[in-house]
Amino acid sequence: MADHAPLARTLPLAAPIEGGPLAANGPTKRVFVRTFGCQMNDYDSGKLRAILARDGYAPTDEMSEADLIIVNTCSVREKPEQKLHSFLGEAFAVKRRRKSLTTVAVAGCVAQQEGERLLARYRELDLVFGPDAVPGIVRMVEASKKAPVVDTQFLDAEDYVFSSEVDPMAQARVSAFVTIQKGCDNKCTFCIVPFTRGPELSRPSAEILAEVRALADSGVREITLIGQNVNSYGLKVPGEKTFAELLYAVAALPGVERIRYTTSHPRDMGEDVVQAYRDLPQLTSQLHLPVQSGSDRVLRRMKRFYTRDRYLQLVDALVGARPDLSLSTDIIVGFPGETDEDFAETLSLLERLRFHASFSFKYSARPNTAALKLLEREETVPDEVAQERLLAFQSRQRVISLEENQRLEGQRLDVLVEGPSRHDEGVICGRTSGFKMVNFPGDISLVGQIVPVVITRAFTNSLRGERPA
Ligand code: SAH
Ligand code: SF4
Ligand code: F3S
Repeated sequence: MADHAPLARTLPLAAPIEGGPLAANGPTKRVFVRTFGCQMNDYDSGKLRAILARDGYAPTDEMSEADLIIVNTCSVREKPEQKLHSFLGEAFAVKRRRKSLTTVAVAGCVAQQEGERLLARYRELDLVFGPDAVPGIVRMVEASKKAPVVDTQFLDAEDYVFSSEVDPMAQARVSAFVTIQKGCDNKCTFCIVPFTRGPELSRPSAEILAEVRALADSGVREITLIGQNVNSYGLKVPGEKTFAELLYAVAALPGVERIRYTTSHPRDMGEDVVQAYRDLPQLTSQLHLPVQSGSDRVLRRMKRFYTRDRYLQLVDALVGARPDLSLSTDIIVGFPGETDEDFAETLSLLERLRFHASFSFKYSARPNTAALKLLEREETVPDEVAQERLLAFQSRQRVISLEENQRLEGQRLDVLVEGPSRHDEGVICGRTSGFKMVNFPGDISLVGQIVPVVITRAFTNSLRGERPA
């Protein structure tokens, strides 16, 4: 079980820091963290804030006053790398203005991939470190004051530590991520993640449960278990729980009212997880199950190791266990050699399954990945064609999302209240089990509670509702 003392000490640091000197016995330095990419990066940023808090760093939203600026990067597609470039421009301007009192660090997947090359390209950069180096942040920042530091080593299973520090900012929330696994052993041919995150490693279940318990004790009601391929959790560790067993164990902890998880790989999702949807009311009706393409020919060349039929059967089984399943997915269009017929199969899968939501991307060629070899043999899909396919998919998805949301009008749904609505005063918001955002008139004192709400109006990405009389 986690030691609770540090929680009490780090909690006040979550409060926004106003200008002026900080109390002598309180935090003395400020850290600004910008996060790009997936939940793994979000989570690592939380760990960085937590570890730094114990070294006297308070989180700040003002980059211009930060003693330490960290950008946690993503390299899954080309665009996120461009974001890094413009971000660093801003960070270096702060460093110059503060006469080098600010340390600038690049973390995450671009850091892992580029390492030393980033230092060569950006002379003002102090520190570059990959995901495995997160626990050493304090030592690295100190060392970088003398000379630039690069740490992009992958650690062996014996040396890797899953940090048990709890993000001071997560404690103030109703919903929090908990990592269950790092890295990925799959080799989907388009994907850079195995190169930036290293081999798959499952976090000991005792640690996961301790972290969930600590979060639940601090008021968190919804836990999202995260990993790149959560369905393979524990399989390579003798005696460890399977993913399904982990779900049951988390559901048994007091205070955990909702469990979500991401990301699932369709190949590894077993009957035991399907059964969990029958047994565990805490397990939400939302499921993100990336399919990538509706064409077997493309799936084969992506090395996803399932067919369209297997995916359909799996979804059928899941809907059998959980009739109100709210399914979302990821789609890549323009994979090397994708024909009009292949793309038509992706569109027909959308029509057949009516995904509630999807994240769709144009294929982006990434360093080291096997698909680069395919590019030599297969026809590259011209950008205009890929763009056209993307727009066609997205416009159809928007219509379906709206129609699926409209089916909820008039229904009474349980909403976990997360906070005030961003737009309207007197309106609060929260999510349904199916992950739909609902805005409705209500008092902020309801935050953290699950309340019934009648849906009055559907939009493409959210719902409007009111509390029943
Ligand atoms: N582990 C997750 C996905 C991680 S990456 C899984 O297996 O599903 C998140 C999403 O980014 C992927 O599902 C994929 O749709 C997209 N993606 C990954 N590499 C990409 C690339 N090279 N080009 C375009 N999209 C990509
Ligand atoms: Fe990438 Fe595939 Fe691993 Fe997901 S399962 S992170 S898409 S290699
Ligand atoms: Fe991006 Fe790395 Fe996540 S490449 S999607 S931040 S694992």
